[in-house]
Amino acid sequence: MQLKQLELKVSQIIEGKVSDNQKLDAICSLLQNEVPHYNWVGFYFVNGDKKELKLTNFVGKPTEHTVIPFGKGICGQVAVSNQNFVVQDVTEQDNYISCGIDVKSEVVIPIFKNGKNIGQIDIDSHHSSPFSEEDERFLEFVCSKVAQLDLVHLV
Ligand code: SME
Repeated sequence: MQLKQLELKVSQIIEGKVSDNQKLDAICSLLQNEVPHYNWVGFYFVNGDKKELKLTNFVGKPTEHTVIPFGKGICGQVAVSNQNFVVQDVTEQDNYISCGIDVKSEVVIPIFKNGKNIGQIDIDSHHSSPFSEEDERFLEFVCSKVAQLDLVHLV
């Protein structure tokens, strides 16, 4: 499915009548099912007033990295930088937390709610250099939609 069509599906999920938790699960599944180079899709959110991220919803191989301190790994760096982080080759990153030898690349996009960086979407790929600007724009769209949710009681 084209990313533009997926944007419509994401909007429909967000507007649905189910819980926020179910919506995030549905978005993870949709993205992993429809985009061949999205092999692991998950959401991390800032854990209250702690300087750490907590994994809430994901699809793909379970990871032991369910809590990530700010500054650690690609995810922790995005919590601090407030910038997209596109890693086309994970072997080139020193500050990287591996979630499996099959992961070759990763993209992390921050989620802003009322101007505050509250979490992120994290995508791992088994492909080399798969991410384009189109992926970034699409994932920014997904994050802007997720930010419309209340997201209370999630972490
Ligand atoms: N690779 C990430 C850790 C999370 S996993 O990809 C699920 C990082 O370096 O922060």
